[in-house]
Amino acid sequence: MVLYFTGTGNSRFVAERIAKATDDRAEDISIYIKGSKQPVFTADEAYVFVAPCYVSTTARAMTDFIKEASFPKDIRAYFIITAASYMGAAPTTNRRLSAKKGFKYMGTAQVAMPQNYIAHFKMRSEEEIRKTVKEAVPVIDRLSAIIKRKGPLPAAKQIPGEAFFTDLVCALYYPLLMKTKKFRVTDKCISCRKCESLCPYGNISFDGEKPVWGKKCTHCMACINLCPVSAIEYGKGSVGKTRYKGPEKV
Ligand SMILES: Cc1cc2nc3c(=O)[nH]c(=O)nc-3n(C[C@H](O)[C@H](O)[C@H](O)COP(=O)(O)O)c2cc1C
Repeated sequence: MVLYFTGTGNSRFVAERIAKATDDRAEDISIYIKGSKQPVFTADEAYVFVAPCYVSTTARAMTDFIKEASFPKDIRAYFIITAASYMGAAPTTNRRLSAKKGFKYMGTAQVAMPQNYIAHFKMRSEEEIRKTVKEAVPVIDRLSAIIKRKGPLPAAKQIPGEAFFTDLVCALYYPLLMKTKKFRVTDKCISCRKCESLCPYGNISFDGEKPVWGKKCTHCMACINLCPVSAIEYGKGSVGKTRYKGPEKV
């Protein structure tokens, strides 16, 4: 089973391609996060966890989900991390989590995908996005072939002390900087409520005609990037930047 978390579609794209190549099915974990389904998995099979890299490691949306969910013991666990540049301490994070859950850790691999952190980073041009996605496809296909033949993923290098440092940064970044105060909606808003349904945490509600952000946010950037009329901004960070609409089907 391929379980994925996504904000803007990169991880969905990777998960669906892996599922197709391995004759498996891909499922979005937001249905569990939003509480409409119990995270209890009974199938004794390989699990492929696909998630974005946040703050130099596996997005907490995925690690928190794995911690809370119930899986059979000894399942084979593969981790595929989509990252704009570098997946950082994700291999260590995932190996440790697998040990705690009693999984057979099959490795972590990175797939380089376009940047979506519009609140803080420079967004890529359409041409760069196309090139990145095109280059990702053979990488995904190589990884799928390994998963299909039940092999381990190639060992990923880790810089000594990297995970320790990343844990410290995450411990500060998540509670202090992943806030919703800076989200705002401009006059362009057409009250279509797409942001409400897109939020994988179910953190957006509607106060009359405008979206209101609750406290549970992981900065996935789905609302800003995928708003059909680009009516959402994050402080000054997103102003004037081209929205990332997710990878096109290849
Ligand atoms: C909150 C946040 C933190 C991020 N941190 C990193 C990072 O540390 N390293 C990196 O290479 N990319 C980072 N990115 C970029 C994403 O990992 C990348 O664009 C990913 O493919 C997005 O996946 P999605 O479309 O499935 O949400 C970050 C993005 C967000 C929204």
